[in-house]
Amino acid sequence: MSTIVNDIEVIKANHTKIHDIDFNNLKFGHVFSDHMLECDYKDGKWHTPKVVPYAPISLDPSAKIFHYGQSIFEGMKAYKDEDDNILLFRPLDNFKRLNISAKRLAIPELPEAFFMDGLKTLLKVDSDWIPKKEGSSLYIRPFIFATGKGFHASPADEYKFIISTAPSGAYFAGKVKVLIEEKYSRSANGGVGFAKAGGNYAGQFYPTQLAVKKGYQQVIWTDDNTHEYIEEAGAMNIFVRINDTLITGPTSDRILDGITRKSIIELAKTEGIPVEVRKITVSEVVEAAKNGTLKEMFGAGTAAVISPIAGFGYKNEDFDLPELENTFASSLKKRITDIQTNKAEDPFGWRY
Ligand code: COI
Repeated sequence: MSTIVNDIEVIKANHTKIHDIDFNNLKFGHVFSDHMLECDYKDGKWHTPKVVPYAPISLDPSAKIFHYGQSIFEGMKAYKDEDDNILLFRPLDNFKRLNISAKRLAIPELPEAFFMDGLKTLLKVDSDWIPKKEGSSLYIRPFIFATGKGFHASPADEYKFIISTAPSGAYFAGKVKVLIEEKYSRSANGGVGFAKAGGNYAGQFYPTQLAVKKGYQQVIWTDDNTHEYIEEAGAMNIFVRINDTLITGPTSDRILDGITRKSIIELAKTEGIPVEVRKITVSEVVEAAKNGTLKEMFGAGTAAVISPIAGFGYKNEDFDLPELENTFASSLKKRITDIQTNKAEDPFGWRY
């Protein structure tokens, strides 16, 4: 049966899977809600999206996504407060970044109304899938990929935009041990590192597998030219605390303009934490670890929010971070999640 919600056609699934899901034991991004938003680009324009049952999609083997990797995505989360209001966090920033990524990958930009109205309709239809348990949320994955056919190495003429959602628990369980990368890079000047392009993540898997074999969980990415500067932590932005100053690298061609990253910078300032947005050298971090001034390191991203680092390896040496009682990581994570879930005032206007 089809209905119209927010001017968007909704074709409901015949059967709900929700009763098969254990909402008390959710992994991250492992089970998917009943519906998805689907929107096609053809004949030179994006066509009005529809909410449809979550289902496999069929593509021509020559679809350009398979050959030339025109694929971008976003990550967002929906929460429910005590009164069952559906809450998002800075969703327009995700929409804008999706189009920044689209432009870089020669994908046609998406109209804002298709993204926002489509998302709101999807969340209304699947609102029962938004977990209320602390630490859980409905992870939202908007993505665009090239469906247009042909082996010619040029941008496709057809694309699909999908939003699918997954009730999710924590991304990482506990602290992670990381390896500072000396050989491989995730991005380069003039490249696509600032975009959320699928290939950026594919390129990380092999070096990360090598790090895992050595006993680490993630790689700390360094600059492609000298490997002297710390840039990102796995699929996240990175923060380093030396004494009481929080430091993160500046955004560039190579570093993603993370929404959690920029929220942490603003929150830390209002907490009176000195924040420096500047290049971080590997040698200053190693030096600070040796002389005891390195207090914390953590990754920041939508999926994990803040992921504390237990220690790092560099040039065959391991460095442990101190076990502090009160960390910036835990207080900033609490502040941001309290704003996200409507447990605290939002002086910034981030909650939606
Ligand atoms: C995020 O932190 O939101 C990410 O982009 C990680 C994602 C690849 C799961």
